[in-house]
Amino acid sequence: MKILAFETSCDETAVAVVENGTKVLHSAVFSQIDIHKELGGVVPEVAAREHILKIIPVLNEALAKSGTSLEEVDAIAVTRAPGLISSLLTGTVTASTLALALGKPIIPVNHIHGHIYANWLDRHTEEIEFPIVVLTVSGGHNELVLMKEHCSFEILGETLDDAAGEAFDKVARLIGLGYPGGPAISKTAVGGDKYKFDLPRAWLKNGSLDFSFSGLKSAVARVVASHKIDAKFQADMSASFEEAVCDVLSSKLITAAKKYKAKEIHLAGGVSANKRLREVVAERATRDFVLRYPANMHYCTDNAAMIGSAGYFMFVKNPSIYSEWKNVNASASVNSSAV
Ligand code: KG4
Ligand code: ZN
Repeated sequence: MKILAFETSCDETAVAVVENGTKVLHSAVFSQIDIHKELGGVVPEVAAREHILKIIPVLNEALAKSGTSLEEVDAIAVTRAPGLISSLLTGTVTASTLALALGKPIIPVNHIHGHIYANWLDRHTEEIEFPIVVLTVSGGHNELVLMKEHCSFEILGETLDDAAGEAFDKVARLIGLGYPGGPAISKTAVGGDKYKFDLPRAWLKNGSLDFSFSGLKSAVARVVASHKIDAKFQADMSASFEEAVCDVLSSKLITAAKKYKAKEIHLAGGVSANKRLREVVAERATRDFVLRYPANMHYCTDNAAMIGSAGYFMFVKNPSIYSEWKNVNASASVNSSAV
């Protein structure tokens, strides 16, 4: 089954063709990062305009490079929430219009479920075993999710304030590194001293699986105020901050995996590209759990292939509910408990 998938929730215009939820025939992504870099972060109005300009060229690329005609598509999947509403609308309107014109079923997908399904891309479905505890961390969300079976998402914990990726972005700005902050901090941390600054870890109340990163960001701001920002400071602060984030994320992930007797633990979302996070989780997971992160770096950050995968598994589970092109309502703010 071939799914044509759309993702426009933030600053990537992405279209992909995915076969049977795992085989990526082509994943086309136009990233607006270079545009937003100059402005220091994503400006919603600028993002919305770029999506409108890029959606048809990116769609054409996905079809041409996957060797797929519109008639050969079996269903259409699209991110409907959460995200920037003016960005989401480009994807949902384009996808609904195509579904109506072609008479194909349309599957509205939660962006976070998409990130979670990035771990199925370029893998065989049978090799992945439930129950799974997923740490899904990006600029817009930060959740621990228990999956007992396909398309079942139980939120075990979430951030009370900033998401981990958001914290990377804010701290990068504080110490004079560029946008997006995650890759910049990760690169600058190499050669830095992770013990140089003793930054706080918000464990919250005993056994809590929730997260909080705003105190860590404020602690960095206080240190910045009393230091000269030079290359050495940037490296040491990047390493110390990265360690604090990875310590909390990995520790709560392993606690949750033990508590819910997971067979596998998965990392997903933009922050799952972080090398140190992967290392720390691997060290702490030992041999108790199978650890997976997206098979390709490109699948950690926003892309449409992951939406095609989530859409496929949703469709297979409940095919009769996905037909009406009118049923796709974009929404800015839902977590992964909603479709
Ligand atoms: O999943 P994503 O592309 O978009 C959202 O859904 O938000 O994630 C983008 C986020 C940004 O905050 C970015 O700084 C972070 O992921 N990120 C990283 C790394 N690469 C991207 N954070 C830490 N280390 C990285 N290597
Ligand atoms: Zn995302």
